[in-house]
Amino acid sequence: MLAVHLVSFFFSKLQEDPTKKVDRFLHAMRLQDEQLVDVSNRFLAEMKKGLSAESLAAAAVKMLPTHVRSTPDGSEKGQFVALDLGGSKFKVLRVKVREDEGIKKGGVEMEEKTYPIPEELHEGRAVELFDHVSESLKDFLHEKNMSPEKKHPLAFTFSFPCEHPSLDQGLLLSWCKNYKVRGLQGKDVVQSLRQAIDRTGDMDVDVLAVVNDTVATMMTCGFDDQCCEVGLIIGTGTNACYMEELRHIDLVQGDEGRMCVNTEWGAFGDDGALDDFITDFDRDVDAASLNPGKQTFEKMVSGMYLGELVRLVVLKMAKLGLLFDGHVSDALRTKGKITTADVAAMEEYINGLINTKEILTHLQLTPSPDDCVAVQQISTIVSFRSSNLVAAGLAAILTRIKQNRNLRGLRITVGVDGTVYKTHPQYPKRLHKVVRRLLPDCQVRFLLSESGSSKGAALVAAVAQRLTSQRRKVGEALSLFTLNQEKLQLVKSRMREGLEAGLKSKGCTIKMLPSFVYHTPNGTERGKYLALDLGGTNFRAMLVRFKRQKSRLYHKIYTIPLEIMQGTGEELFDHLAQCVCDFLDYMGLKKVRLPAGFTFSFPCQQSGIDTGTLVSWTKGFKATDCEGEDVVNMLREAIRRRNEFDLDIVALVNDTVGTMMSCAYEDPKCEVGMIAGTGSNLCYMEELKNIEKLEQSNGILKTNEQTSEGEEGEAAVKSDLKMCVNTEWGGLGDDRCLEDIITPYDAEVDIHSVNPGKQRFEKLTSGMYLGEIVRQVLLDLTRRGLLFKGHVTETLKTPGIFETKYLSQIESDRLALLQVRSILQQLGLHGTCDDSIIVKEVCGAVSRRAAQMCGAGMAAVVDKIREDRGLERLSIAVGVDGALYKLHPHFSQVLKETVGVMAPHCNVTFLPSEEGSGKGAALIAAVVRQKQEK
Ligand code: BG6
Ligand code: BG6
Ligand code: GLC
Ligand code: GLC
Repeated sequence: MLAVHLVSFFFSKLQEDPTKKVDRFLHAMRLQDEQLVDVSNRFLAEMKKGLSAESLAAAAVKMLPTHVRSTPDGSEKGQFVALDLGGSKFKVLRVKVREDEGIKKGGVEMEEKTYPIPEELHEGRAVELFDHVSESLKDFLHEKNMSPEKKHPLAFTFSFPCEHPSLDQGLLLSWCKNYKVRGLQGKDVVQSLRQAIDRTGDMDVDVLAVVNDTVATMMTCGFDDQCCEVGLIIGTGTNACYMEELRHIDLVQGDEGRMCVNTEWGAFGDDGALDDFITDFDRDVDAASLNPGKQTFEKMVSGMYLGELVRLVVLKMAKLGLLFDGHVSDALRTKGKITTADVAAMEEYINGLINTKEILTHLQLTPSPDDCVAVQQISTIVSFRSSNLVAAGLAAILTRIKQNRNLRGLRITVGVDGTVYKTHPQYPKRLHKVVRRLLPDCQVRFLLSESGSSKGAALVAAVAQRLTSQRRKVGEALSLFTLNQEKLQLVKSRMREGLEAGLKSKGCTIKMLPSFVYHTPNGTERGKYLALDLGGTNFRAMLVRFKRQKSRLYHKIYTIPLEIMQGTGEELFDHLAQCVCDFLDYMGLKKVRLPAGFTFSFPCQQSGIDTGTLVSWTKGFKATDCEGEDVVNMLREAIRRRNEFDLDIVALVNDTVGTMMSCAYEDPKCEVGMIAGTGSNLCYMEELKNIEKLEQSNGILKTNEQTSEGEEGEAAVKSDLKMCVNTEWGGLGDDRCLEDIITPYDAEVDIHSVNPGKQRFEKLTSGMYLGEIVRQVLLDLTRRGLLFKGHVTETLKTPGIFETKYLSQIESDRLALLQVRSILQQLGLHGTCDDSIIVKEVCGAVSRRAAQMCGAGMAAVVDKIREDRGLERLSIAVGVDGALYKLHPHFSQVLKETVGVMAPHCNVTFLPSEEGSGKGAALIAAVVRQKQEK
């Protein structure tokens, strides 16, 4: 009744229209749409500035990356403690996300308690503030009967600008609002919190994440609405965050996906960008604040300042005689006497004028009805300007999102919190209306965060917890591939034992096959030779011409189809004859009977340079009726069957030997040859006298026949001479001596190979198997739900998908994550960027181990050579070939480092073979031929 009476009373007074006078007086605060568009454009420019590496140092709007990469996806769960500091209330909470059966309300249950922060702590020392925080936490845990023994994961909403090196670190940039605490600026707030928790004692808390209130609000609302990609606070302070494209955030590595950016828009205007919108009242508010010159936009917008702005306007108008007949009370002169709650009350729909009268009376004023209308109008203009400015800022953010995504329209939800938005009766409606007017082609939904920000902070912590546990499990799986010094030493000594045993007798795991090559080249080799090269990735035929320390080379590459590799021996050798025929045709040499060197990259028991029995196939070869046969004969027969050309096959050579010879042609110090390719193997120049088994098989006789040393006695020959030994080190471990290194993944690869139980060292170190090991690890991680969202696809189940070249590409440091992801996609593996990171790590662990194993093996060889020669120090060169060595981005480096560490008394130089092993085979053929001609 009274209300109706008052309204009619005021209505009669309205004829004088006191609002007009206020409108005129506050003209500068009444922003038109064109001005809002202007503000919006300026903010858009500020956002760009804050994101770009070149300009961010000078940017007022900090655009802080948050490390929150996704909005809730429904997989979050767990029980968390949360702290919410920086808004109008400090709260401690317990948040259960999908923890107990029957949790209602969208799967989250929350309990909270507000702990007042004594006024003096707002401007005291950081230690005192954090002690208060941690004591409140302890009280809460106690009250909720949460055991001090159990580790409680904690999410921390800290509503001040922080830089985040990671999700659980927040370096405070500056205080604002009603806080100005000493000793925290530039420091990590999580660290300070942890220290305070330690000081308080009797609590076990794991701080998982620190987030801004805007971020936490976006996450809270995102739990109910997946379209929520913006968080907005209009409370004590004001701020907004949104999901930005990672490729635009210069401060963060990675170029795919999104990350939430905390704009810290409160600082908009600190560099003068809003000067033409700033009034004297704003300047006065700023001057009297705890942080003058800072948070310009916030001071025009947020709850901490709205009441004060109204008070200053009222005071000024009263002083000018425009209100209260020029009367000014002491209360009106006192800072803080009009609050934002008062502003909200004055603008209430029905009771607004009554409230205004009461508030003014409370300030020891005697307002006329016109005064009340005028003061209400002041409130309206001040709060309207606030919502207009927020609308302009928000319009900029939404425009940016729209542009980022190349969309004409946008459907998006903005999660909102803060007392101004929640309690001011007109604010939300005005804000919504202006945003929609500024962005007619966007469908914007505003979602009020009913439950505060802690639910969202807990969701962030839940993701962090899941990622941490995931990382730990991936780390555990990959630690199986770690080789410490002790293990490398073990590999080295097992290799040494294997080399010694293989020199003594036949049938050892390391075969130590004599090659009947006694010298590295001396530069006198001359003539034109054919070289055939079978056993690496491809079959190669080549013509090599040696002329005065120079060689020229022509070659052609042929692939060997799988069905030929695994068909009959006759088919395989017929195929080779066909390729040779094609090559001779191509070179126009079909009619010439050329001397030829045959690189055959499999273990062959040789009794002379031009003959060799295949001991067993390795790598992917499985052609029947070859093992136990002389492969030179098989080739000769195939050529005969073809009857189109003839060859004089004068040397049979392993690829390691061919590689050593080829590199020794350039550098006489080269006495070791190594292949790190499809297979893994090494040869080196051994003292002839050490090859004991050669004597047993009358090999020494052959030796005499083929050396130029002539007729010296056996003893003399043995003591002076060397012979290259093809170690076939790939067989190390076939007696299970590497069991403490072999992982379950290796075992799986071995079982499914064509030669289970064989070539165990090779299966840990060579290109043919590394990809398979990687695939086994990925399969396991996926089955355990740690990768590819737990989806085991047919592709992943397909053996052989990871060729060495992919491993090399994936591990390349030059590739961005996005490119790694696209390689995986080419392979049919569709995952997230995080999946790509894990895949890259798996590849790294597997290839690193391979290089280290080879390094330890090589250390055993060079140390043996050094000891045999009785040297303190050995300088030696190693000729190397193979795709793993040549193409992998890190293999060669790790190999070198490991040899350096494991054979500290040897200087080992690595010579990558330029022209393949064929040139070496041709060199050997040249030596044999020249000797035969003598
Ligand atoms: C609360 C959130 O609801 O709103 C806080 O839980 C946030 O994290 C606050 O800081 C902002 O509003 P105000 O008005 O309390 O500053
Ligand atoms: C080539 C050699 O360059 O490398 C071959 O000429 C050798 O003889 C091969 O077998 C090894 O590498 P990959 O990667 O092809 O197995
Ligand atoms: C201030 C803080 C900001 C926070 C906002 C709302 O602007 O700097 O981090 O989000 O207040 O609480
Ligand atoms: C396999 C073969 C070996 C060869 C190596 C590299 O280990 O057994 O002879 O040298 O692969 O190709």
